[in-house]
Amino acid sequence: MSEPSRSRVFVTRVIPALGLDRITSACDADVWRDPLPPSREVLLAKVAGCDGVLSLLSEQIDAQFMDAAGPQLKVISNFAVGFNNVDVAEATRRGIRVGNTPDVLTEATADMAFGLLLAASRRIVEGQDYIRSGRWKTWEPLGHIGVDLPGKTIGIVGMGRIGHALARRCHGGWGMRVLYHDRLRDLEAERKLSAEPVEFDDLLAQSDFISVHTDLNESTRGLFDRAAFRKMKPTAVFINTARGPIHHQLDLYHALRDSEIFAAGLDVTDPEPIASDDPLLTLPNCVIAPHVASATISSRNGMAEIAADNLLAGLNDEPLRCWVNPG
Ligand code: DGY
Repeated sequence: MSEPSRSRVFVTRVIPALGLDRITSACDADVWRDPLPPSREVLLAKVAGCDGVLSLLSEQIDAQFMDAAGPQLKVISNFAVGFNNVDVAEATRRGIRVGNTPDVLTEATADMAFGLLLAASRRIVEGQDYIRSGRWKTWEPLGHIGVDLPGKTIGIVGMGRIGHALARRCHGGWGMRVLYHDRLRDLEAERKLSAEPVEFDDLLAQSDFISVHTDLNESTRGLFDRAAFRKMKPTAVFINTARGPIHHQLDLYHALRDSEIFAAGLDVTDPEPIASDDPLLTLPNCVIAPHVASATISSRNGMAEIAADNLLAGLNDEPLRCWVNPG
């Protein structure tokens, strides 16, 4: 008797073995092993006839992708908490389940946001460049002056899990006042961290540090433009660990160059990777990391486990563990 055929899946990059091994042993899995993503053309060819896909944020999962996969496609398991790369409405219309990987990266991402805040405020990377280029000649009473953190005001834009975790660090560790701007109230943050919900412009005007934790959608794309940076304090530090297109990158460059704000710390850029001739890279007061906020062992293992659970559940027509478009 012939064995029942196994589900066909395409996994667009090697992910930690905790998730990948379960997928390869349960499915007929084609795993893209190159560290660079497949070209669009190759991606569309690879997904043809697949029942499931494990995708990364670098893949655009749109109607063309779903057409290329075919009507048997049941599940898209995105290896990220964010899913702005997936046309969820289109997937829902076609009855395709979409999964993401929340929670397991919350603390790591909040740590990264705080690390960038500290590095940009205290000019740590600039100091390292100063040493490496042989410019450190003596201890300088007037050199390398940064901004203080204790008792200042942090403004959180998007008070979800990660925004809340950063607010907890800033309030508990550095005694900061917490302002936040969100569609929804975070009553726990208001109760435990004395967080205050405010209008966007009030947050811009009153915060010493502003950290972005909202998702990327049509109302947040370009939210931080020249006008927004001009409403911030000249001593303000801007942090973005969410998605690059939430800030207007050339406007950020001008705001930093013209000292309209003090510094910025980015884990995300627009585009990614950032172009090697992007003017932001010429500025000493901009710290940039290559989208690595979730890059810790436990976060990436957790993401792999959830992504595998989502994929396998979707293939079996079961509810996904972290389901973006249920019912
Ligand atoms: C996400 O999960 O959305 C991050 O940007 C990558 O970990």
